[in-house]
Amino acid sequence: MFDREAYEKRVEWFKDARFGMFIHWGLYAIPARGEWVRSVEEMPEEEYRPFFEEFDPKDFDPRAWARAAKNAGMKYAVMTAKHHDGFCLFDSALTDWKSTNTPCGKDLVREYLDAFRAEGLKVGLYYSLLDWHHPDYPHYQDANHPMRNHPECSNENRVFSRYVEYMHGQVRELCSNYGKLDILWFDFSYKNDYFDLTGEAWEATKLVRMVRELQPDVIIDNRLEVSGAGFGSLVTDDPSEFSGDFVSPEQIIPPEGIFDNAGRPMTWEACITMNDNWGYHAKDHHFKPASTIIKKLVECVSKSGNMLLNVGPDARGNIPVESLKILADIGTWMKKNSASIYGCAGSGLAKPENGRITQNGNKLYYHVMEPAIGDVPLYGVQREKIAKVRLLSDMSERSISDNWMVNNYPDISFTAVSETPELPDPVDTVLEITLK
Ligand code: GLC
Repeated sequence: MFDREAYEKRVEWFKDARFGMFIHWGLYAIPARGEWVRSVEEMPEEEYRPFFEEFDPKDFDPRAWARAAKNAGMKYAVMTAKHHDGFCLFDSALTDWKSTNTPCGKDLVREYLDAFRAEGLKVGLYYSLLDWHHPDYPHYQDANHPMRNHPECSNENRVFSRYVEYMHGQVRELCSNYGKLDILWFDFSYKNDYFDLTGEAWEATKLVRMVRELQPDVIIDNRLEVSGAGFGSLVTDDPSEFSGDFVSPEQIIPPEGIFDNAGRPMTWEACITMNDNWGYHAKDHHFKPASTIIKKLVECVSKSGNMLLNVGPDARGNIPVESLKILADIGTWMKKNSASIYGCAGSGLAKPENGRITQNGNKLYYHVMEPAIGDVPLYGVQREKIAKVRLLSDMSERSISDNWMVNNYPDISFTAVSETPELPDPVDTVLEITLK
């Protein structure tokens, strides 16, 4: 039976944190065409292996990564311990296909965890259920495997239970040998005409029981049941043991947030790339401006969700300069306005036409994203319920307007935000409204 009280306690810090860094890194940074390069190009292992022989990220500086995340206002991070290519960024005893056997020679997971903990961030690991390297993982006719269209890579002699045992063994290693983990981010379940790789196909109940025994406070995503598509049993009245603890919409912000079947707001986290790729892609310069990401972070929180924003370091171990600039610009806004993000959730009020609203207790944060002619209307906020209004960025007082122009609309509160036609912050000017 699902223990909702224990669940709500487990996810409390996560819902307060609201903003995290996703890190996709591995051998695929060398071809630099994204983390699905083997699958998309149906690349045989022998063409991919040279990258293993070469991988040596000389500039790897996880403390610099951690500082970039912290300065952006991120409270947690999730890094790939193993992606779909099966390459392990940790010193697993169960495989030779790992970073410690490359010229790099390092346990990158351990160095990442140490560095981000040292900067005070919560730490998570992403672990791919898919494994295109392991001989017992389905090849031919699998939905995603690089050799899915190659009959010569038949699944004869492949014993999937051997792969599941390997996968469980690696998860045990990660949960036993690397200290306290705050998040385990499995990815992903799927089925096609030939294989159903969802839920118990992974022996998910046994896996989650082991994880929760070794890491009692860890929170887990919902992809032991689904991919980015689907919410899984977490939205039902009786979630499975492997439902996970949060829904993981990918490259989208749920238009109305996410509610369970009983109408309760769900714990969810939208994972978003800065450009179009999770893994480093040398030609992908489609970076979202910081202004967009700030507004989308506010949108997530206004719908009671989190944002996990991705960086894809290159083969030298550097986060792309475009990503660093975006993180720094987000941090400039967060330094003044993070009170409207951390510990906040949706207000239950309708989205105002000039911005968004987040709430934390008796504090309403009114995010003004559109200039007004004259005083700014605070849609949905009754004048008699307002104790005081402050411009969050400098905590300067703002009074509720009382003049012939606004008094034609007594049901709407107005305030003079700026002396000039421009908003103090053209991206998002936040008013802290203390309610009586
Ligand atoms: C998808 C992709 C994977 C990426 C994940 C991030 O599942 O397969 O490459 O790591 O999204 O959520």
